[in-house]
Amino acid sequence: MAVAKARKAANKANGKPKPAPSLPKTKENEAQIAVHWKEEEYFHPSPKFIGQANLNDPAMVERFSETNFPECFRAYAELLHWDQYWHTTLDASNPPFWKWFVGGKLNACYNCVDRHLAQYKNKAALIFVPEPEGEAATVITYQELYRRVNEVAAMLRDFAGLKTGDRVTIHMPMIPELPITMLACARLGVVHSVVFGGFSGEACGLRAADSGSRVLIYADGYHRNGKWVDHKASADIAVETAKKEGQSVDKVLIWKRYPGHFRSESPMIMGRDFFVDEVLKDYRNHVVAPVSQDAEAPLFLMYTSGTTGKPKGCQHRTGGYLAYVAGTSKYYQDMHPTDVYWCMADIGWITGHSYIVYGPLALAATSVLYEGVPQFPDAGRPWRIAERLDVNIFHTSPTAIRMLRKAGGDEPNKYNYHFKHMTTVGEPIEPEVWRWYYDVVGKKEAVIVDTWWQTETGGFLCTTKPALDPMKPGSAGPPALGIYPIIWDEEGKEVRAGSGAAGNICIRNPWPGIMQTIWGSPERFVNQYYKKYNKDPQSKDWRDWPYYAADGAVLAADGFYRILGRVDDVINVAGHRLGTKEVESACLSLPEVAEAAVVPAVDDIKGRVPVVYVSLKPGIAPTKQMQDKVTSAIETMIGKIARPKTIHIVPDMPKTRSGKIMRRVLAAISNQMDTGDITTLANPDIVEQIRIQVQGRSRGPVKEGPEDIKMFGDER
Ligand code: WTA
Repeated sequence: MAVAKARKAANKANGKPKPAPSLPKTKENEAQIAVHWKEEEYFHPSPKFIGQANLNDPAMVERFSETNFPECFRAYAELLHWDQYWHTTLDASNPPFWKWFVGGKLNACYNCVDRHLAQYKNKAALIFVPEPEGEAATVITYQELYRRVNEVAAMLRDFAGLKTGDRVTIHMPMIPELPITMLACARLGVVHSVVFGGFSGEACGLRAADSGSRVLIYADGYHRNGKWVDHKASADIAVETAKKEGQSVDKVLIWKRYPGHFRSESPMIMGRDFFVDEVLKDYRNHVVAPVSQDAEAPLFLMYTSGTTGKPKGCQHRTGGYLAYVAGTSKYYQDMHPTDVYWCMADIGWITGHSYIVYGPLALAATSVLYEGVPQFPDAGRPWRIAERLDVNIFHTSPTAIRMLRKAGGDEPNKYNYHFKHMTTVGEPIEPEVWRWYYDVVGKKEAVIVDTWWQTETGGFLCTTKPALDPMKPGSAGPPALGIYPIIWDEEGKEVRAGSGAAGNICIRNPWPGIMQTIWGSPERFVNQYYKKYNKDPQSKDWRDWPYYAADGAVLAADGFYRILGRVDDVINVAGHRLGTKEVESACLSLPEVAEAAVVPAVDDIKGRVPVVYVSLKPGIAPTKQMQDKVTSAIETMIGKIARPKTIHIVPDMPKTRSGKIMRRVLAAISNQMDTGDITTLANPDIVEQIRIQVQGRSRGPVKEGPEDIKMFGDER
C-alpha cells in the first residue's frame, strides 16, 4: 500500500526531494533506529528516465502480485530462447529443492551469443579496458564473441576432454578471456566454477577439489594497481592443494594476457600445462553446436563463505537463473541493446556473473570490462572511461564509491559523461555517501538503485523499480517483482513495518534465481537456509519453507527495507564475504597458535574489516614476527583480500563456562562498544586486560556501534 503511494509520488517526478513519511514514535523504534540514521527524504526519477524505461507500467507490478505466483515469472523466462518450452513453471513438490520451468530446454551460451547475431552481430558485446591507460580498449562484437566462444568450446571438448556435466575451475582476472571461457563452458553444459582472481592458489585448490575439477584454467598474469601480478604461480599451488584433498588435476590451460608473450616466472609443467593461444590454432573457426540443456541442469558453481570453515559451492540452475538475471537486468538495470553498461565488480563474484556476463549478454547489451582498480592511476580514471566509452549505466559498490569520494570528491565534475542509471550493491550505503553518488557522480540526472541480494539468490531481492519508485538514501527499497519478504524476530514473531525494530529478513517464496543446492551437500543447504523458520520439516507446501538470508533488516512504514548487515559469522569486507571461521582456521594452521577469534571492526572505507585475536601455546613469545606469521598464513590460505587490519596476541580469550570464545565481547572491544554483561564468563578479568591492550589504559567514550556488530557472534 505504502509503496503504491510512493510510486504515485514518483510518477509526478518533479525532481525535488520530498520528505518520506516519518516512523511512528514507539519506544522500540527509538531504541533501534536512534543508533542508525534518521528517515531520509525521497528522490524521484526524472520524466526523461521514466519515458525511456523498460519498466514504467504499473500493470507489470500487478502481474507479479502474490496471487499470480508462480506464473508471474513466465514474463522473465519469455525473455529467453527455449529449444523446448517448459510445461510446469514451478515444481515445489520436494521443498526446498525447487524446480523451475520444468520440461524446458535451452542453452545459456546460445541465449547470450548466437541468438543476437541476426540483429546485432556488429554490435559491441564486450568492451575490455586494460588497466594501463596507454593501452587501447578492445571491442568484441557479438560476431567475434561467437567465433571465439566456439573455438574455446571446441578446445575444451576435443583437447581438454570436457563433457556435459563436468566441472571446471577457472581462476582468472578481469580479461575478456574469462567470460569467453565461461560461455564456452555453458555452450557444452560444462559447469564452471570461477574463483576470484585475488584468492590464493590454496583457496583455488580447495574449491577445485570440492567441485571435482580435473581441469584448471588460468591466466599468466594481469595488471593491478600499476603492478604486474604473476598469476600462473598460483596454479601450481592450486594443483598441489587439490591433490592433497584427493583431487588430481590433469590439465592446466593458461591464457596469456598478451597472446604470444608468456609473462610469468613460473615454469610450464610438461604434459600438464598448455598455452591456450597455441592450442587454439588447431580449432580456428571450429563451430560447436550448443548443447540443449534441461532448465534444471546446473550452469555454474560459485563458492562463498558461510558459518563454517569450508566455503560452500552455491549451485545455480540454467533456466531459472538465466531467466532471473535477464529479467532483473532488463527491469532494474534498465538495459537496452543501445546502452553502454559498466559494472565495476569482478566477474569472480556473483555480481559479475549475473550483471557483467549473463544478464547483460542475454539482453544483447554492451558490457564493459575493466581490468584494474578504480583509482588507478588516479581517482579520475572511472570518469575518463565513462566519458570515452559514453557509458550510461554504471554499477558499483559503496566501498568503491567511498574510496573515489575520498580520493577525488570533485573529479566527476571534470568529465563530460552522463549516466541515466547507477547501481549500488554489496553493502549498506550511508545516506551521506549515497548523496555524493547522486549529486556528483550522477550529476543529479541518474536514478540510483540500491540492490540487496546474495550469491545464493542469483539476482536482486530488494531494489526500487527505477522509474516507478522513489529512491531513499540508505534503503534498498521494496522487494523485487515476485519476491515476498518478511522480517521475523528470533522467536518467529513478525516484525511489522514501521515498528522500527530489526529482525531477520526472510523470503517467503521460491523464485527462479535461487540456488539449487550446495554442491555435494544438500543437508547443509536445508539446514543453512531453510531450517530456521520451518515449522514442519515434512511439509510439502512451499509456504512452510521461507528462505533465511542471515541479514538483519528494518522495514519502514513505506515498505522500504533497510539492510543492516550479516547476523552470522560472515564479515562483509568491502562488499566481499569473508567467513570468520575460514580466517580462524588459517590462523590455527600455525603450530604456535592455541586459539583464534576473528571479529569485524567498523572501517570508513571498507565498511567492515577483520581484526584477529590469537592466543599462543605456552612458551611462545608474542612478537612482531609472530604477528607477521599470522598475516602471512591468512594471505597464503585465503588471499590478500582477507588481510586483517590488526592482530592482537592476547594472553587468553574471554570464554563462557562451557569454554566457548565470546567473540561478541572481542568485537565490542575492537569497536569501543559496551562489552555488556561479562560476569557469567569463566574468566571475566581477561576482558579488562584485553581492553587495555587494544584501547589503551584510559577509557574513551563508549560508542553505540552498529547493529550487526552488536549481534555478532551471538548464538543464533
Ligand atoms: C550484503 C553480493 C546492504 C548482505 C551481491 C548480503 C547488502 C551480502 C546489499 C551478500 C545492499 C548485499 N545493502 N547489504 N544493497 N547487497 N549486501 O553473497 O549482507 O557477496 O548478505 O552477494 O552482502 O554478499 P554476496
